Amino acid sequence: MRQIDNADVTPGSGGFAAQVADTVARVVSNDWVNAEYKLIVLDAPGLAASAEAGQFFNIECPVVGEDKPFFRRPMSTYAADPETGRVEFLYKVAGAGTRGLASLISGGTTRILGPLGVGFTLPDDVRSIVVLGRGVGLATLAPLAEMARDRGVAVTAIVSARGPEQILSVERFRAAGAKVEIVLDSDGTSAMTNVEAILRRLHAEGRADGFYTCGSNRLMLLMQKLAAELDVFGEVAMEQQMACGLGMCFCCVRNFTVEGETISKRVCWDGPVFALSEATSW
Ligand SMILES: Cc1cc2nc3c(=O)[nH]c(=O)nc-3n(C[C@H](O)[C@H](O)[C@H](O)COP(=O)(O)OP(=O)(O)OC[C@H]3O[C@@H](n4cnc5c(N)ncnc54)[C@H](O)[C@@H]3O)c2cc1C
Ligand code: FES
Repeated sequence: MRQIDNADVTPGSGGFAAQVADTVARVVSNDWVNAEYKLIVLDAPGLAASAEAGQFFNIECPVVGEDKPFFRRPMSTYAADPETGRVEFLYKVAGAGTRGLASLISGGTTRILGPLGVGFTLPDDVRSIVVLGRGVGLATLAPLAEMARDRGVAVTAIVSARGPEQILSVERFRAAGAKVEIVLDSDGTSAMTNVEAILRRLHAEGRADGFYTCGSNRLMLLMQKLAAELDVFGEVAMEQQMACGLGMCFCCVRNFTVEGETISKRVCWDGPVFALSEATSW
């Protein structure tokens, strides 16, 4: 496997300091996991396989018919294993880029730029965490459960979905030793009042001294409110449309609230993981 364009990236204000590689990765498999999502497994040894939980890659998506994705598309690392040299992405087939990605077959190649961005942190005094996600957000949170397990931190995963067919990543969370609570739109259990009750119960049971979320504005706002009220450490992985992924084009800027002031930050460079207390609604 060829690794090219290896470059040192100088850290910016709050940005990441890391080596980034543009790796030509070989497709091992690219299979549907349900009607909307595919899992692509890539052979991408070297720097790419050292990606940490919450980091992402900017992925080249092939041109297929009328679909001509000019920019690469950002995807969270679903799995990265330096021993096998494999990197995995769980993605929703949504538009031109991901339709192109979905067309890749075993033996084909694509280029992945990364690992990019600032990943999740687990402070030493956080001994039990709750991860709360929905949709593609669950792809971002799954590696965090494994990072927590490796550090002896207990995990509860609250998996939100439209219905049973859209449930994602539950096996990954369970394999990481996480207790899983599934909440669904189809039976009403995903209602904010119920999710809030679950979070309050977990906190009262001493199972929540860290809150982590991704994939839903409403769930982020709920966790943010409770984290402030219960004085719980929290982080959120944000999404934003991107172009360069490297902090240069400023197309991924979002507003954050830092010590009462509105501050603009680049999601690709200062994040995508941010303090939960700083996030603003999207
Ligand atoms: C850091 C990061 C990590 C991500 N990780 C994953 C992941 O693990 N799995 C996954 O499926 N998706 C992930 N995404 C979202 C993914 O990048 C977009 O779904 C993808 O770019 C859509 O490309 P497309 O060409 O298929 O769709 P497009 O035709 O570009 O867009 C289809 C629809 O999706 C919306 N959209 C496009 N890009 C984004 C975006 N970045 N955020 C929110 N909405 C968007 C568009 O407005 C449009 O409505 C991530 C995004 C970021 C920023
Ligand atoms: S995508 Fe270019 S600065 Fe973030």
